[in-house]
Amino acid sequence: MADASADRRPESVTAEGEADLAGVDLAGAGLRLDVDGAVATVTLNRPERRNALTFATWRGLAAIGRSLPSDVRVVVLRGEGPSFSAGIDLALFSNAGLSGDGEGFADGSDAEATDRFIAELQEGYTWLRRADIVTIAAVHGHAIGGGFQLALACDIRVVADDVKFCMKEPALGLVPDLTGTKPLVEIVGVPRALELCLTARTVQAEEAARLGLAETVVPREGLDAAVSDLVTALLAVNPGAAAATKRLLWQAPENTLEQQCAAERHEQIGRLRELFAR
Ligand code: ACO
Repeated sequence: MADASADRRPESVTAEGEADLAGVDLAGAGLRLDVDGAVATVTLNRPERRNALTFATWRGLAAIGRSLPSDVRVVVLRGEGPSFSAGIDLALFSNAGLSGDGEGFADGSDAEATDRFIAELQEGYTWLRRADIVTIAAVHGHAIGGGFQLALACDIRVVADDVKFCMKEPALGLVPDLTGTKPLVEIVGVPRALELCLTARTVQAEEAARLGLAETVVPREGLDAAVSDLVTALLAVNPGAAAATKRLLWQAPENTLEQQCAAERHEQIGRLRELFAR
């Protein structure tokens, strides 16, 4: 996967913590950002609504991606309260603005405007694949629809044994459009992805591990510690080697063997130059 987004990364920090981020009201968007050195923790923080996602949440996530301090190497995405995320805020379907956005869904009659609108929301997800960071979804409880897709957008999923993944969009007459279809198919294959999406059934921890939707399953009370251990291990790796390896691995499925061998040589030359320049 080409990583053009890494080149657009800002040099400096615009803001850290809970407060306003480059003019974005993160708290109002149901988000919290905590940056501690090389680790940024993004918390979905509307537990009273099971961390239901609004347009503001997706825009806030995109803003976080654009504004991360340049020394952040690992991003942890987690949910406050009983669920990781119950998916889209169902109030958005009513056009009533109950979510606080004051926005409802466009009816799709202006295809170009709707396309632009969905692309903007997808930006809340795509940055999680950037090569200069490793992203971990720490998932517990329900991860439904847009919440499941958020977990799929991360590089690694560490899940609690109470996890419940569900791709609910088709049951609501929609398609999953928040970048989730590609990673889902890459992980489970087309037949299983089709079965999961069109039945909208719930996948629990044991099956999630078996299908590859979870790299690690731990008891609910051990989730934070498991994520912390993983973060420590990831930070022990040379940052340049980590980024180069992520670039290589993400492009591997789409490359021919010849292309992938060439990509390995290219990345290794960069590594050797850096190592021997010291
Ligand atoms: N949007 C808005 N509010 C929500 C959502 C949501 N997606 N999910 C939960 N809430 C609210 C509930 O309405 C409830 O509010 P209330 O206290 O004012 O009654 C509160 O959060 C707690 O929810 P409960 O249902 O009481 O919590 P419970 O733990 O029993 O169930 C569950 C959680 C399973 C997530 C359930 O709330 C649910 O099914 N939510 C809807 C999920 C959904 O269909 N999401 C859309 C997916 S499609 C997509 O994302 C594009």
